[in-house]
Amino acid sequence: MVTLTDRHGENRDRSGGCAEHPGAAVRRRALFLPFRSRIAAFLCAVATVLCASAAQAEDGHELWLRHGRLAAGQADAYREHASQLIAGQGTPTQVAARAELLRGLSGLLGAPPSVSQTVTLDGAIVVGTVASSPLVARLGLDLAGLGGEGYLIRTLAIDGHAATVIAAQEDIGVLYGAFHFLRLVQTGQSLERLDVRESPRLKLRVLNHWDNLDGHVERGYAGASIWDWHKLPDYLDPRYTEYARANASLGINGAVLNNVNADAHSLTPAYLDKTAALARVFRPYGIRVFLSARFSAPIEIGGLTTADPLDSAVRRWWRSKADEIYRIIPDFGGFLVKANSEGQPGPQDYGRSHAEGANMLADALAPHGGTVMWRAFVYSHEEPDDRAKQAYTEFVPLDGKFRSNVLVQVKNGAVDFQPREPFHPLFGAMPKTPLMMEFQITKEYLGFATHLVYLGPLYEETLRSDTYARGKGSTVAKVIDGSLDGHTLTGIAGVANIGADRNWSGSHFDQANWYAYGRMAWNPDLPARAIAEEWVRMTFSNDRRLVGPVVEMMMGSRQAAVDYMTPLGLHHLMARGHHYGPAPWVEGGPRADWTSVYYHRAGKDGIGFDRSAHGSNAVAQYFPPVAREFGDVHRVPEDLLLWFHHVPWDYKTRSGRPLWDELAYRYERGVDYVGTMQSTWDGLEPYVDAERYAQVAAFLRIQEREAQWWRDASIAYFQTFSERPLPPGIAPSAHSLDYYKSLDFPYAPGDGR
Ligand code: GCU
Repeated sequence: MVTLTDRHGENRDRSGGCAEHPGAAVRRRALFLPFRSRIAAFLCAVATVLCASAAQAEDGHELWLRHGRLAAGQADAYREHASQLIAGQGTPTQVAARAELLRGLSGLLGAPPSVSQTVTLDGAIVVGTVASSPLVARLGLDLAGLGGEGYLIRTLAIDGHAATVIAAQEDIGVLYGAFHFLRLVQTGQSLERLDVRESPRLKLRVLNHWDNLDGHVERGYAGASIWDWHKLPDYLDPRYTEYARANASLGINGAVLNNVNADAHSLTPAYLDKTAALARVFRPYGIRVFLSARFSAPIEIGGLTTADPLDSAVRRWWRSKADEIYRIIPDFGGFLVKANSEGQPGPQDYGRSHAEGANMLADALAPHGGTVMWRAFVYSHEEPDDRAKQAYTEFVPLDGKFRSNVLVQVKNGAVDFQPREPFHPLFGAMPKTPLMMEFQITKEYLGFATHLVYLGPLYEETLRSDTYARGKGSTVAKVIDGSLDGHTLTGIAGVANIGADRNWSGSHFDQANWYAYGRMAWNPDLPARAIAEEWVRMTFSNDRRLVGPVVEMMMGSRQAAVDYMTPLGLHHLMARGHHYGPAPWVEGGPRADWTSVYYHRAGKDGIGFDRSAHGSNAVAQYFPPVAREFGDVHRVPEDLLLWFHHVPWDYKTRSGRPLWDELAYRYERGVDYVGTMQSTWDGLEPYVDAERYAQVAAFLRIQEREAQWWRDASIAYFQTFSERPLPPGIAPSAHSLDYYKSLDFPYAPGDGR
């Protein structure tokens, strides 16, 4: 990557683009200046106000679309490639693309390019589709194979001038190309000899908002819902457009607006009008809206006595509901459904299968081109079998039984978004059914919004896992992008971490998880490290004294959380209900598989869930090479040891340490890493604006305290089983086990309700 940076590697000043903001001094001097100078001084004062407000606004609200002013030398170099803009304004999406380029370039370069109809300057940027731009049409570009959302960006000569063309088959491709171009400038890359061809690998790239109609966000740690249902459809908060811009900049093209634990009211006419208003805001940005559909809606809002998917009145109700929706939202995406899962209604209430339920909705949506995203996150109340096995057991027999407009949405792991899980065994196991990935962006199990945990490595680890479904190289990424089994309907979902907080995600670093999700949704092969670097450059600065250390800190942060929460394959050890903090002692209650003891199985004899052939045999759900690896205590990746095996406390781990010592060592390592992040961050104070610096520093202090809490509580608890001393150098827990057990947090955020 060629970067354009000054001697210090800086491309942006810390004030957010203001070379100086001595507003008062400017006003004083202006009184004594000749007229022309007064005009200049006035403009400067206006600019100063704008700059000052930009400088004050370092609250993260602009996300990665900050477009702060580049350093002078750099801006000059880029201006040579951005002198003039030739872009259409015939459709709302064209208007958006043009506005993004003008806004972005004027922010980054200090002034917008001139706007023109023809190329008259070197450094022109020509933007458009063949259909909308005669200029693009006559370039004879090869746009075939880009698809509707793809684009190319190329350096070429037009009418004797050096130019850059951003071209696509459809307007939305042009918008995506515009964001790509801005990203190149913003991250300091060369604009010489560009030859970019991009198209998304997955068709549906959606956010799942677990937002309730009352504004509460289930598992949300960034404040209330951004959807102000009460004021919709009349009042359109500017945030909706900002949201659309941010998502479009990543290529996210769908939003499920309401919680999977759905309220049937979302499907009533009043709420559909509100949804339609949001759809209108999102449309120019290529984002389609979806709704979570409550399976029992025909009873709750339709006045029927059943929701049986084979009942003709029920089928008619859904068909007419779909017709009604498409009348007001012609590009409605479809339904997401959580059925017969954690108490939600579903087809099994009527003795029908998941396929029969999904197909009924699919038939209602099919005439309009809509899709059903049917979740495979199911485990039965009555089922005594290992919870990790149940989705596979339930869904594999249904392979091939779903309509062609159904995607089965599978969480990355078989239990529930734990800090580390092996990939879900369903990936690769349903070749006749397109499976979509569900990642969690919100950090329900990874420290809420206060812990700095970059999820890129988690996503990457899952996507690159080899299922061996069709031999070596059958990665999860190839399952979901359809290439392994020849599916064209493909998708990925991320449970959003977005809320009404000024910084959208509850913390500055959690924006990186939204960003990483979006970038990997576009291309599941993008490396987590490269994405982190890109995000840091866009969100903070290109100063290499900041970029390197922050990327390092981010890259190790997920492993650190695994270490201080659930090392060596432990899982599901958090407090009941709100899931805040450690509680490996949780037992009893409504169901065994909602307790911690069910998952760690610690006793005097050892610890871990035996999922080998001697235990629940969950390993058998994987293809043989994987099953052999996971099932063999000597071959299983040590990070998953206690996920698949129950081993004695003195079991010799690969480090040579006995298990108990290794466990203690890993807890300690996790806490230490947080300390390292703190010292890294301390050293970065000169390179970060004060506001964001302070919040991150404060959150790291919270994280350090809570990491220590996790370590201490877990060690105190497990030591009652291991009955072993702590290894040398590992300090005892600060408090007694009873103390940790007594902690109570009735108002921890994000709980389900
Ligand atoms: C987790 C989470 C719930 C959520 C569920 C789901 O269990 O804690 O709040 O409803 O996942 O994905 O459906």
